Amino acid sequence: MNQIAQLLKFYREIGVEYVRPVNIRTKIDIFKEIEKEVINCRKCELYKSRTNTVFGEGSVDADLMFVGEAPGRDEDIQGKPFVGRAGRLLRDLLKEIGIDIGNVYIANCLKCRPPNNRDPLPEELVSCFGYLKKQIEMVNPRVIATLGRYSTYELTNQKGTLGTLRGRVFYYQGIRVVPLYHPAYLLRNPKAVEIFLDDLKKVKELFEK
Ligand code: URA
Repeated sequence: MNQIAQLLKFYREIGVEYVRPVNIRTKIDIFKEIEKEVINCRKCELYKSRTNTVFGEGSVDADLMFVGEAPGRDEDIQGKPFVGRAGRLLRDLLKEIGIDIGNVYIANCLKCRPPNNRDPLPEELVSCFGYLKKQIEMVNPRVIATLGRYSTYELTNQKGTLGTLRGRVFYYQGIRVVPLYHPAYLLRNPKAVEIFLDDLKKVKELFEK
C-alpha cells in the first residue's frame, strides 16, 4: 500500500470521514503565477518603457499555438497579443480557414514592446525565452505555428529566410513547428496572403489529424 493510502486508512480508523485536498494547482492557476512573474519582470531593459506586459491569451488546452514576435503599440496599450492591424488580419485569416480563435493559444517571444517596434535584441530574446518555454510546456499543443523570423529561429534553431522555412515542419521538444509569414509582412505584401492561407491549411490538417 502506498503512503497516501496508508494515511487515509489511518484517518478512517480514527474516525475522520472527509479529507479535503488543498493546494491542487490547476493549469489556469499556474498560468496566473507565470503571468504575475512576467508583470513584475525586470530581466531586460524593456520594463522601463512598457505600458503593459503582454503575456498571452487563449485556451490553455489548445491543440494549436501561435507564437509571434513582440507586442506592438496596440498590444502594449491593451495588454493582449495581436489586437492591432496585423492581429485583425490574422484573426480574419483564421476564420477564413475555419480555425476557431477560441480554441488556440497565442503568445509572443517577447512579453514587452520594444520601443518604436524595433526588432528584438538577442539579450531580450534570451531573457524572455523561459516564459515562452513554460507556456509551451503547459499548453503542450499538437502544433505550433511560428509567425515571422524571431519565433521561427527561436523554436526551430534554423537560419535562413522565412521564404525558405515557411510551410515546412520542424520540431521543438517533440512538438511540430510550422513557420508562417508574419501577418505584418502580409499587410506590406498582400500577394503573400495566398501562401499564408495554404500554409495555414496545412497547419489545420496537422493539428486535426
Ligand atoms: N506582432 C507580434 O508579433 N505580436 C503581437 O502581439 C502583435 C504584433
